[in-house]
Formats: sequence, structure tokens, C-alpha cells
Amino acid sequence: MDRIKVKLALQAEPTGQEIESRGWVRTKRESKQGFGFLELNDGSCLSNLQIVVDASVVPDGEALLKQITTGTSIGVQGKLVASPAKGQKVELQATRIWIYGLADGKTYPLQKKGHSFEFLREIAHLRPRTNSFGAMARVRNALCAAIHEFFQSRGFLYIHTPIITTSDCEGAGQMFRVTTLDVAKLPRVARSNSPLPPGEGASADDIDWSQDFFGKPASLTVSGQLEVETFACATGDCYTFGPTFRAENSNTARHLAEFWMVEPEMPFFELVDNMGLAETFIRTILQQVLDRCAEDMAFFNERIDKTVLATLRNIIDHDFIRLPYTEAITILESCGQAFEFPVKWGIDLQSEHERFLTEQHFKQPVILFDYPRTLKPFYMWCNDDGKTVRAMDVLVPRVGEIIGGSQREDRYDVLVERLKECHLNPDDYWWYLDLRRYGSVPHAGFGLGLERALLLLTGMANIRDVIAFPRTPKNADF
Ligand code: 4AD
Ligand code: MG
Repeated sequence: MDRIKVKLALQAEPTGQEIESRGWVRTKRESKQGFGFLELNDGSCLSNLQIVVDASVVPDGEALLKQITTGTSIGVQGKLVASPAKGQKVELQATRIWIYGLADGKTYPLQKKGHSFEFLREIAHLRPRTNSFGAMARVRNALCAAIHEFFQSRGFLYIHTPIITTSDCEGAGQMFRVTTLDVAKLPRVARSNSPLPPGEGASADDIDWSQDFFGKPASLTVSGQLEVETFACATGDCYTFGPTFRAENSNTARHLAEFWMVEPEMPFFELVDNMGLAETFIRTILQQVLDRCAEDMAFFNERIDKTVLATLRNIIDHDFIRLPYTEAITILESCGQAFEFPVKWGIDLQSEHERFLTEQHFKQPVILFDYPRTLKPFYMWCNDDGKTVRAMDVLVPRVGEIIGGSQREDRYDVLVERLKECHLNPDDYWWYLDLRRYGSVPHAGFGLGLERALLLLTGMANIRDVIAFPRTPKNADF
């Protein structure tokens, strides 16, 4: 008999048809001698399939019921019938049951009671078996599919940009070094005045990188933007979508050392076009997930955060506010709110400022734009005022910054000056500058952090709980 997934079994009309299902037992209830109920889950949906076990019908029924505990993997054949219990249309009256793997009730950590997210992080290999993480995995999957569909349906090319790179896109120096050198004996450039014997107290400047695998310092990418610009300026609208890495030592509930980012890049786009696309993008993908994951989303609203669905509805149904950075500063200065970090023109907005604007002042998403140039990376278009660049950040309630983007500087001379201003060597960016030497066009793009979007969607409070295996400072165990 072919295996039917629980999701399909639950949707089927109960006509007494014979079916077979397989999965993991969530709970067992024995009502009287030789009679029991199993809740079977196979991850295809949140709900379980109720299995009714009558030991006088199922061969070895009594012995099987004894052996089966929470976590046991089983196969069941039986008749799909209407269920008398409320809250479920169907149940499976078992005629045959077999065990794939037992789960010792004395040691299996996921017993029926609810577990804290902190505890579940310590058993990241088993937490996919919980309701929350099953739902998270399905929502994450639906979100990725919605992202691809959004761009594919608009004719964007999906470009794979490199994970290993020798340029620092965000210019913040928060990169993980990739090397095959034996760090215990890093080769030194010969220096007559070096006070240290080889292998001790190395500084990056002392190391002879020509002996390394790539012949120069290489790192894990912080963003695929620079590389994807080469395609935007050739084959047109495109996006890159993959893992990105940041060695920020920020141990917050909103930062990961390894996160996924989708970065569209569009030629003949200026900042206003970029804002428009970002807004349509967010609303479209949120709506898609609501449509496709109704059961999981209802679970998050019920069990994780009761405001999730209302917040999403509000975002989807209303225009985003567009506000220049300078006006945001005026609002923050005159709002009468006491902030931990004092506000004045030129500061990098902190999470508390961003959340005040989007959660309390406007109560809807805000796109802040035209930031001070001192705060932003070298590649952003310099405004005529000499003070600001065409940057944009999309801020949403509960999360703060969910998207960062900009119009790119497409004027060769201005870009060379900007690189120098940012203490970067234009020679290192020769290929990026070439895009401005040959057939330069206005272009723009943005990056959406997948896990930030999932915080918004699921109501989860900690970013470590919206990715299967979170990487954070001092944590990459498994
Ligand atoms: O604002 P960011 O640094 O922008 C860029 O990387 C640009 N190159 C994007 C572009 O224009 N193509 O990062 C973009 C988004 C942030 O808004 C945030 O959602 C997410 O990436 N992000 C992080 N998410 C989790 N952990 C971190 N450490 C993150 N850093 C950024
Ligand atoms: Mg940013």
C-alpha cells in the first residue's frame, strides 16, 4: 500500500477506505485494557492523525501499545472513518501497526509537556519534532517559495553569487576569514625589525597572504550585492538569495552570525522605484504565506504572539510611511520619549528609535531614506547636499529594520572619492569601478534578512528560533 501523508489523510473524505500512514507518535492514551489512541505526526502539517487501536483487531495490539511511547516511529494501516471526537473530521481505525524505531521514555527529552525555547535550543537536532519548529519550518519554506515566485513572475534572474570573497561589501570589517594557513604557524613577511619569533603575536599585516590558498586575504561574504550588480548591469533585473555571514559580536535577539538574505538589484532604478518595489515585495510575500500556511499561522497567533495576524494584516493593508532620516530625527527629538541612546542628527538609529517610529509613532511600516553619508557604506548614491546618501531602511513593528538598500553610486569619479573617504583602496574595487566606466546606468537594490522576516511572521521573540541551526557568538555546536 502507498503511504499517505497525514495532511492528505486529514483532508480526505472518511469513507472507510484502507490507507497507510507513517510518522512519529506524539502522544499515547490508553483508555481501557487493550484499547488506545495514538496521535501520529509526520511533519506534513501541524495536526496529528488520530489512530484508534483496538488490540482485538490489531495483531499483537496489546504488546505494541505497551512498547509505543512518545517519539516512537511507526507505520499504520487501517480504515479512514469519520471521527466522533470534536475538532477532527477523520480518524484511522488501525488494522495493522509496526514499529520502525522505539524512543525510550526514560531518556527521550521531548515528552508531552511544553518546553522552553532555551531548552529546545540545546536539542536543536530534536526540536524539529515540536509543534513550533514544525510550523516554523513550513512557514520558512513557504516564505522562500513566495520570494522566488515574486521575482520569477516578474522576470528576474536568480543569480548565485560567491560565498567566498575578497571584497568587503558593507565595509564594516565584520568578516569571517577563510584560510588554509595553519594558524598556529602563520608565515610572516620577513622583517628585520620584527621583535617576535614566527608563530607568536601575529597581526594581519604581518602575515604573508601570498602563501594562502587564494593568494590574498579571503572571507565569507557579508552580502552578494557587489557581485549581483554585475548582472543587473548586463542581463537586467536579478536577485541573489543565499547565506551571508557577519562576525558582529552582537549577541542580540535580532542578529545571527549566519543568516539568509535575498538581494534584488534593478537597472534603471532610482531610490523611489526601489522603495516602491520593496513595499510591494513585503506585502506580497506576507500575504502568500498567510494564504499557504493558514493552520501554522493560526498556531503562531494562538500560542506565540496574539498580535501576529493583526500586525501582518495592518502591514499588508496600508501604505508604508516614507520619511527622510532628517525628519525622523526631528520627530524623535521632539517626541518627549526618554531613549537610552540620545538623539541628534548624524547618529545611527538604534533599535529603540526604529521601533518607536514604527510601533508607537506611525503604528505601521516606515521607510526611512536619505541617511547621513558617514553612516552608510561606500556604494550608495551621494546626494547633492554633500551630507546624505540615497539609502533606505524599511522598519516594521516588533522587529525594527527588516530591509536595507539604496540607489548605487553610478558616477565613476564620485565613487572613487567615496571609496577613499571610506578608507578603502580603489584598486581593490577595480572590477566594481569598471561597471561605472563602461555603460554605467542608474541602478538600485535592497536586502531582506530572511530571519527578520520570519520574526515578523511567526511572532517568535528570538532570531535563534527561526533558523534550524543558529550560529551566534560562542555557538556553532551543531
Ligand atoms: O542593511 P544590510 O547590511 O544591507 C546589505 O547587506 C546590502 N548589501 C543589501 C543590498 O542593498 N543588496 O543588511 C540587509 C538586511 C537587514 O535589513 C537585516 O534584515 C538583515 O539583512 N541582517 C541581518 N539579519 C540577521 N542577522 C544579522 N547579523 C543581520 N545583519 C543584517
Ligand atoms: Mg542595514
